[in-house]
Amino acid sequence: MPQPQLPTSDPGKPSRRGVLKLAYASLWLALVGAVGLGLGAVLRLISSGGGSPQDQPVEMGQPGGLAVGQAKAHGPVALVRDAGGYFALSLVCPHLGCRPAWHKAQSRFLCPCHGSSFALDGARLSGPAPKGLGHVALKITGDKLVAHPSQPVDPATRLQS
Ligand code: FES
Repeated sequence: MPQPQLPTSDPGKPSRRGVLKLAYASLWLALVGAVGLGLGAVLRLISSGGGSPQDQPVEMGQPGGLAVGQAKAHGPVALVRDAGGYFALSLVCPHLGCRPAWHKAQSRFLCPCHGSSFALDGARLSGPAPKGLGHVALKITGDKLVAHPSQPVDPATRLQS
């Protein structure tokens, strides 16, 4: 007479082998995803010419449209004009990297994050920023002013127009 077989495992419960397969599959997918993200970042860096978007040249229009003593933001840089001529300031706060904005009424750049303030020439006036805003290269290309955020220049540099 045949003996009844006892079940070796609960049919509703996943087997240990199944759990391990699922864990390996999840790990594999996470690894493939991480490699894909890293590859995407490298390709974006290569296609942008090797720098971040903040380092790309910024076209600022034709000279002549800015009064002496004023500044105008163009993304990560500001076009500024003083009695000596035009120059460009990096709008990356030297404290923690926020973007200061020009406040015409107060004649200064103010950082919205922790309140650092900077004079028209970029010099630090107050706040936690350890230094002033950086001066970057400003050139005329064709008939347009173009700032080059990745090229620091001496703060005394001016472009005549
Ligand atoms: S990031 Fe500008 S003051 Fe902190």
